[in-house]
Amino acid sequence: MAEADGVSWDGKYAGRTAGPPRLPEVFAPYADEVPTAGHALELACGFGQASVWLAERGLTVQAVDVSAVAIEQAQGLASSHGVGDRCTFSVADLDDGLTPGPPATMILCHRFRDPALYSPIRDRLAADGLLAISVLSEVGAEPGPFRARAGELRKAFAGLQPLAAGEGDGQAWLLARRSRR
Ligand SMILES: C[S@@+](CC[C@H](N)C(=O)[O-])C[C@H]1O[C@@H](n2cnc3c(N)ncnc32)[C@H](O)[C@@H]1O
Repeated sequence: MAEADGVSWDGKYAGRTAGPPRLPEVFAPYADEVPTAGHALELACGFGQASVWLAERGLTVQAVDVSAVAIEQAQGLASSHGVGDRCTFSVADLDDGLTPGPPATMILCHRFRDPALYSPIRDRLAADGLLAISVLSEVGAEPGPFRARAGELRKAFAGLQPLAAGEGDGQAWLLARRSRR
């Protein structure tokens, strides 16, 4: 299944090129909350536009995606923006869990949902670390196997301090901070 996932995403990405570095639209209004130093982890980074934005902001970035095509584009984007040395992009299948790494000052996961990762994501956040997560939602859309139930993100990350959240039009998202330990 993992291999099939990678191949099918490779097919979707083939022949396309990465756009400019940017935070996903849903989180862009909260850009000032993003730390300017530390270590960021991006899950299912696609073309790495957000990762490169985070690196330009001052973070070192570890980012993974199952698509080798997307990861190659992400590496190229980081190099062309002069932050190749601050970004580590790897092909990895998140069905196998989070790739090892240090506590994260920020974790970004945009439009990728795996409830099995919610607990490891919480555990990976450093004290005061920021989580930005968005998933497809059943709220405002037909139920489906890849969509979050109503309230799923709030429940999963109830131990974090929410800064902003939204649910509707088939999307759920949460921006939340881990309290200092
Ligand atoms: C909807 S795209 C979102 C990409 C990126 N986060 C963005 O917002 O542009 C979903 C991403 O999840 C990746 N993906 C799907 N299954 C995966 C898996 N099992 N492990 C790692 N990445 C996966 C795909 O390759 C794709 O890049």
